[in-house]
Amino acid sequence: MFSEPNSLLSVPTGPLQIAAATSTDVDANSQAILLSLVIPTYKERDNIEKIVYILSLLLDESIPGEYELIVVDDDSPDRTWEVAQSLMSKYPHLRVMRRQQERGLSSAVVRGWQAARGSILGVIDGDLQHPPEVLGQLLKAVQQGADLAVGSRHVEGGGVSSWSVVRRFLSRGAQVLGLVILPGVLGRVTDPMSGYFMVRRQAIAGATLNPVGYKILLEVIGRGKVREIAEVGYVFCERKEGESKVTWKQYVEYIHHLLRLRLTTGLLGKFPISRFFRFGLVGLSGVFVDMAMLYLLSDDSTLALPLTRSKIIAGEIAIFNNFLWNDAWTFADVSMKQQEWRQRLKRFLKFNIICLAGLVLNVLILNIVFNFLIRNRYIANLIAIAVATVWNFSVNLKLSWRVTEVK
Ligand code: GDD
Ligand code: MN
Repeated sequence: MFSEPNSLLSVPTGPLQIAAATSTDVDANSQAILLSLVIPTYKERDNIEKIVYILSLLLDESIPGEYELIVVDDDSPDRTWEVAQSLMSKYPHLRVMRRQQERGLSSAVVRGWQAARGSILGVIDGDLQHPPEVLGQLLKAVQQGADLAVGSRHVEGGGVSSWSVVRRFLSRGAQVLGLVILPGVLGRVTDPMSGYFMVRRQAIAGATLNPVGYKILLEVIGRGKVREIAEVGYVFCERKEGESKVTWKQYVEYIHHLLRLRLTTGLLGKFPISRFFRFGLVGLSGVFVDMAMLYLLSDDSTLALPLTRSKIIAGEIAIFNNFLWNDAWTFADVSMKQQEWRQRLKRFLKFNIICLAGLVLNVLILNIVFNFLIRNRYIANLIAIAVATVWNFSVNLKLSWRVTEVK
């Protein structure tokens, strides 16, 4: 089936599923495609020629004739797709898709991968914020056996050049929230928000991806068969043209995405329910210790100390009580292997910090729920305690009682 030169790719429809074999066989005399790199664009008219030029220069150098670039544009008002189409005569390995029925960064990437012919599928932003020179290291990692190679801002050599404190806080906050809701996915990479990575086709072939918003990497790790993951540090650069399309909507979609992944994949099965149950029981004992200590310290018939001071002491004693029980019972299988007093002390300090952060979260949620959602302080408090318990459990599981020795 021969298409006109410079013709746009037909837009795949139906489920977002990647085929095991390439969608259209390459014609006999051309080489097999190794890498299909999708460039999702929305209003990138001023960036698209530059990124295609730089990527072509780099890939002609490293894998000449074995790659393709697939621009997937969502009918940008600045007609980015048209500029990309005009470049096709100059760049024979460039293919362009103009989507008019669907919108969204994640689904754009998957539709691009559905039209792809490569055995390795990649994604890079079209605004030059993802340094193209990192591609070589990502490709090498996959060729050396990794199923997934992720450009990460949070490993050696990584960073963000010009994000505001708010954006940094939101990005890290989103990551910690993800660790609480979906530790089996978010805990596997240091930068789960990354939109710059390559994945072996076989690792996601057959999986029906169901992404929302911006975070396609969550779908790949959550629904794919990803065994080995490599990470390459990169510095997220400043945008030169246009602006970021990230709004509050992406953050809401992100939480929706986490919850859906949690409920619709086997990751629920991987959630250590019995350990969580023990953790909850220990937490309950902590409530009694907290109450008893508050009575002994602050009641008029006992020491009658000031309430806040009593509460802080009682809270700390309850945390200590919970640590002892969790260390001896809930996480005994892990703590048994780390008996040195230094290791115990380190676990206690981490536990303490996480539980104090949990206390802050508890108070925050209580106020948000009571002031904006349910005008009943006891139901609001129960919700706050439940969220804080999931937080305390997930983050302690990940950070305090994890197997630290390197196998
Ligand atoms: N097709 C399509 N449809 N492309 C889109 C859409 C969309 O709805 N929204 C954004 N894009 C394209 C942009 O044109 C750009 O090429 C890329 O996706 C990233 O969009 P930005 O709006 O620039 O996102 P960012 O720079 O704030 O964040 C990016 O980098 C982060 C770190 O890797 C995104 O890729 C984030 O997902 C990522 O976490
Ligand atoms: Mn950007």
